[in-house]
Amino acid sequence: MEVKKPYRLANNTVLRLSPEFILPEEQRPCLSEVSDVNVVPIVDLKGYDECENGLVKTVSEACRGVGMFQVINHGVPPDLCHGVSVAVSKFFQLPAEERAIYETKDHSRRIKIFNYYLKSDDDEQTKVTMWSETFSHPWHPSEDFTHHLPTKPPEYWYQPRIISDVLSAYAREIGSVMNRVLSLMSKGLGLEENALVRRLGENPNFYSQANYYPPCPQPDLTMGLNEHADITGLTLLHQFNGVPDLQVKYDENWVAVDPLPGAFVIILADQIQLLSNGRYKSPVHRAVTNKMLPRLSLAMFYAPNDETLIGPMEEMTDEEHPPIYRNYRYKEYMQEFYRQQGKKKRLKEAFMLQRQP
Ligand code: OGA
Ligand code: NI
Repeated sequence: MEVKKPYRLANNTVLRLSPEFILPEEQRPCLSEVSDVNVVPIVDLKGYDECENGLVKTVSEACRGVGMFQVINHGVPPDLCHGVSVAVSKFFQLPAEERAIYETKDHSRRIKIFNYYLKSDDDEQTKVTMWSETFSHPWHPSEDFTHHLPTKPPEYWYQPRIISDVLSAYAREIGSVMNRVLSLMSKGLGLEENALVRRLGENPNFYSQANYYPPCPQPDLTMGLNEHADITGLTLLHQFNGVPDLQVKYDENWVAVDPLPGAFVIILADQIQLLSNGRYKSPVHRAVTNKMLPRLSLAMFYAPNDETLIGPMEEMTDEEHPPIYRNYRYKEYMQEFYRQQGKKKRLKEAFMLQRQP
């Protein structure tokens, strides 16, 4: 199975992008128009010990506005974060043949390396490959995934044979941060603290996506990850090396997200927008590329399982707020995602109820 290796082109001798990475003019990132006014709130999870209400209010406002915030003082040990960043970055440096066993275009594989691409709206055959490479695998429960993970590089297994594997330790910590964030979000909707976890359902699907963006000779012609909203319930994104290439759309403008050292970016994903009947927003975001520096990020997703029934929660609807979306099983949402694959997606719209004229 052939998967393109954009980074192979990104050594110092390459000054131009090959055509497969070049976007049509109207889809290029217009980097000079990106704002750096910070619109993504920073939430200090320890700073409100005395005042849970203040914390809930900040989170709720962020979820109703830009749909994204960064958490600091989240309690995940810096050494562990560093261990994960080393493991993931060494993985992307492995020789191509060693990574090749994970390359696939079969999206049902649970451990996989692939490239995202973009199709043209009027010509299904034309694909533009994104300037990035993605490695995805489940992250919880650890007994389900650790024995499928690569045994190279050794950092993926921490000290050899001490199978308190760095990733499963990290996964446990991330699980607690997500639970805390979901409880704040639930309270921000005026609900009990476990309301969203309950509605995201039994046996959620936890999977991660490591994104590697090699330095790119012409960042204005291509994209690291094209604009999208995350389809799951919640995303926790760790930006590892301080390169400011994540951008969020706010008030129709692209705004750069500060790569705050040690912080996690919390991105509200589609299922929570639909459960909250549109009160909370799942933002459109993208990653651009950088001429000088490689960039690495790790997204941890909290998704419902295939059979979970999603739709506006009863508490979120009344006469003044009739349901905007229909009920569906999560697998229908996934099917729609794959149906629109490669296109500029209109996923949430596909689940909207028709409004009366
Ligand atoms: C994602 C994502 C952005 C980034 O993985 O869904 O939006 O900065 N990543 O890598
Ligand atoms: Ni995303």
